[in-house]
Amino acid sequence: MSKKKPAKRIINNASRSFRIFTFGCQMNENDSEKISGMLKALGYVEEMDVNKAGLVILNTCSVRENADERVFGNIGAYKTVKKTNPDLILAVCGCMMQQPEIVNQIVSKYPQVDLVFGTHNLHQFPELLNNYMVNGKRLVEVWDDSDTIVEDLPVDRKYPFKGFVTIMNGCNNFCTYCIVPYTRGREVSRQPDKIFAEVKALVADGCAEVTLLGQNVNSYGNDLDETVNFASLLRQLNTIDNLKRIRFMTSHPKDLSDAVIDAIAACDKVCNYIHLPIQSGSTRVLKAMNRKYTQEDILDRVRAVREKIPGVAITTDLIVGFPGETEADFLETLKVIELCQFDSAFTFLYSIRTGTPAATMADQIPDAVKHDRINRCLEVLHRISHDINQTYQGQVVEVLVEEPSRNNPERMTGRTRTSKLVNFPGDPTDIGTQVMVKITAAKTFSLDGEKIEQEDTHGAADTHDDPIPANS
Ligand code: SAH
Ligand code: SF4
Ligand code: F3S
Repeated sequence: MSKKKPAKRIINNASRSFRIFTFGCQMNENDSEKISGMLKALGYVEEMDVNKAGLVILNTCSVRENADERVFGNIGAYKTVKKTNPDLILAVCGCMMQQPEIVNQIVSKYPQVDLVFGTHNLHQFPELLNNYMVNGKRLVEVWDDSDTIVEDLPVDRKYPFKGFVTIMNGCNNFCTYCIVPYTRGREVSRQPDKIFAEVKALVADGCAEVTLLGQNVNSYGNDLDETVNFASLLRQLNTIDNLKRIRFMTSHPKDLSDAVIDAIAACDKVCNYIHLPIQSGSTRVLKAMNRKYTQEDILDRVRAVREKIPGVAITTDLIVGFPGETEADFLETLKVIELCQFDSAFTFLYSIRTGTPAATMADQIPDAVKHDRINRCLEVLHRISHDINQTYQGQVVEVLVEEPSRNNPERMTGRTRTSKLVNFPGDPTDIGTQVMVKITAAKTFSLDGEKIEQEDTHGAADTHDDPIPANS
């Protein structure tokens, strides 16, 4: 006999505890830090066990099909979790929620979801949660877009010594494969004085490194006063005392101006590292992707970066199997990888995103071809990474220590200014500090080294670090 479902759920969320799962990019992570900040301001505490937590938030990503699948798998599992933890409130937010068909699917097929909100109304979360707790009725509230940035949300940073700072929201580029312009809306830049104040506050709070976030940081300020651009922002932030490192992502090659490269080179705090996604090396494919640059442009920008920024590391993103990509196009990509000598790359199989122009393009590439191409791509990339890492052998590099190494707590792990992962024998007191490490072994994905005493390297920690020969 079926019982009538109560219209109203009685919430007994006395525990005020939560757990957030983050599925996407750094901007998604930064959003999770804000959600966590808002909850902690309300007196909530983190509870890692979802069977005990009062609230679970899934912050979703939609960039590729497997991201969607992971999220649906997770939401599905909460049907069982809710049997052992019936008071649990399940909230789902992030980029997937900006797609109406996904929200419809959740509403019709996943009754275990209590609260849905999107990327543009993240700041409303405490209010929505409160409404849900008062009414006990499922709440779905997603804004289509937003032309303002809500300032001053509390941020619960994952690491005390490094922080993300979102400098702009959205994307105007509409690469034909990409869902992000639909999930994050149009570009809106934050006012530089707000960014400056946030970075200053982070540094006062003990932060040594900031990463400036935007889908295309090189177009920062296009919607602001004409004196404001990414180069001027870098120069301004570089004046902040006690800030040690400035990083940023992502740089779109079409907007990487000489002025930005000059600013990176001139600012001692800006790391000599650039993530420059090229996606493909074939001009024909780049045109179909609507990337607005050619193979020659890539080579020209990489040359300029290498000429002006000593010891720079360059990483990239690549998509293989874009619709219509021929073997000849793919060979152009391999050629460009060789010519650019990328330190490393994130490589992706092209994934159909419904609603984007590429989804309906003719000549979709079979999976087997995509897999073959990605494997060939990785072979070249790994060889190059390995060779570049060998040049670090015997060098002394500055490492910002992040955490104990995953498989050996007696070793610490951190990153060089060029973003290389370094493992060395150390102890937890090193975490959050910059130490000088002599590299003793170089592998494809990381470097091993030994810490050397700080007295020997007095003053070196603040310099723009080209690897320094140990015996110089
Ligand atoms: N704004 C950044 C990229 C953000 S998305 C930029 O333009 O550089 C991160 C990466 O995901 C992209 O660089 C791209 O390589 C990959 N990506 C995006 N959409 C994809 C799709 N439909 N299939 C496969 N990879 C994709
Ligand atoms: Fe997507 Fe292109 Fe925008 Fe990057 S620049 S987020 S790849 S549309
Ligand atoms: Fe990031 Fe994924 Fe959204 S990559 S912007 S969380 S679609």
